[in-house]
Amino acid sequence: MQKRSLLLIGLTVFGFIQAAQAAPSATPLADRHVAKGITCAICHGTDKPEPFAEVPNTTCFQCHGSLDSLKAKFKHMGKQNPHDNHLGDVACNICHKGHEPSSVYCEKCHKNFKLNIR
Ligand code: HEC
Ligand code: HEC
Ligand code: HEC
Ligand code: HEC
Repeated sequence: MQKRSLLLIGLTVFGFIQAAQAAPSATPLADRHVAKGITCAICHGTDKPEPFAEVPNTTCFQCHGSLDSLKAKFKHMGKQNPHDNHLGDVACNICHKGHEPSSVYCEKCHKNFKLNIR
């Protein structure tokens, strides 16, 4: 109930952004991880990542389970399942950006898709 009201407030506040992007969180994904005690080094393997550093999917899998388990978890989304699609085994960060607002890559082509991403 409380979670739902917060969501509604969030949607109202970010409603205007939604037209351009699918309601990105104001705080980038990496910062939300750092706030949970997941340091730069845990994702990057170093405290001082170089410019253009990337994070392999296998690092994400260590905590979030395999791609198969993500597929299963989002099965209810049917054709719009972002983790089970014709793009195949793509980099998580084509959608889940580390340090900038995330965006749903599918929507570049499928303008009618309605997905939210944090
Ligand atoms: C949840 C995992 C995660 C954490 C934690 C994280 N990063 Fe990143 N970082 C990424 C991803 C993913 C990328 C690839 C680019 C993108 O998606 O934004 C990246 C890219 C970078 C880059 C290259 C960016 C560029 O545009 O050249 C730097 C530098 C960087 N991170 C620094 C840091 C520092 C410093 C910290 C700790 C404060 C940190 N990262 C914590 C996931 C993470
Ligand atoms: C060391 C473990 C760890 C690693 C590595 C990690 N995560 Fe997370 N991730 C977490 C935790 C813990 C949370 C917070 C879960 C919660 O609050 O319920 C989280 C939350 C998330 C969320 C939900 C967004 C949110 O703010 O609640 C997404 C999406 C996510 N991670 C994606 C990624 C991606 C993509 C990568 C690889 C670039 C990654 N994570 C790497 C542990 C990790
Ligand atoms: C095509 C875009 C896209 C790609 C690629 C993608 N995701 Fe996601 N992900 C999403 C969307 C959209 C959601 C939110 C779905 C929802 O909750 O309605 C999400 C949600 C999540 C969550 C949150 C789970 C939860 O319990 O709320 C995690 C963790 C996650 N993704 C991890 C990953 C990892 C790891 C990868 C790489 C193997 C990945 N994602 C690749 C779009 C993507
Ligand atoms: C580079 C463009 C592009 C991207 C990105 C893309 N698609 Fe597609 N997709 C297509 C094309 C082209 C077709 C085939 C034509 C059609 O049926 O619309 C298609 C077909 C589909 C279909 C079968 C047709 C239907 O509507 O039932 C599904 C489901 C689908 N895509 C889901 C996704 C999902 C989920 C993502 C993101 C994870 C995604 N697509 C990303 C271009 C793209």
